[in-house]
Amino acid sequence: MTTMSSDGHSRRDFLFIATGTVAAVGGAATLVPLVAQMNPDASTIAAGAPIEVDLTPITEGQAIKVFWRGKPIYISHRTKKEIEEAQKVSLADLPDPQTDAQRVKKGHDQWLVLVGICTHLGCIPIAHQGDYDGFFCPCHGSQYDTSGRIRRGPAPLNLAVPPYEFVSDSKIKIG
Ligand code: FES
Repeated sequence: MTTMSSDGHSRRDFLFIATGTVAAVGGAATLVPLVAQMNPDASTIAAGAPIEVDLTPITEGQAIKVFWRGKPIYISHRTKKEIEEAQKVSLADLPDPQTDAQRVKKGHDQWLVLVGICTHLGCIPIAHQGDYDGFFCPCHGSQYDTSGRIRRGPAPLNLAVPPYEFVSDSKIKIG
């Protein structure tokens, strides 16, 4: 079954993009075997090595999930509307006050990168759901906004932003 999200994108879109990203990585490894041999192997990645993610397949309004150090990491390509919603919120309305600018990289406002673990009891929130068009945790109803900040529910803190950097305009390194 295909589930439609509030922005009109389907769950099937999400899976397609995620699969495409993996396929792209595999293709690159085939083309440059020497480079691939120098990359960390699976056990090293599992132990915490940085991972690089190509952002090219993620279209505006979509979010993908990757894994780093065994944790789900959301990478969301925010729409103009989502960015504006995140920027216009008053800090006084936030249980864990942080500006949107503190949670994204300067010049890359469209990209939101988050640890997808609810700060209440550790469930995985669902992207593009809830009253704030951000993330909704189905376990006990915590609602996060389009910057991943807690807005309502039992979670005490914003979704964490993992350490990451842009290595180019279309690629990030997490970790
Ligand atoms: S674990 Fe998310 S609201 Fe409880």
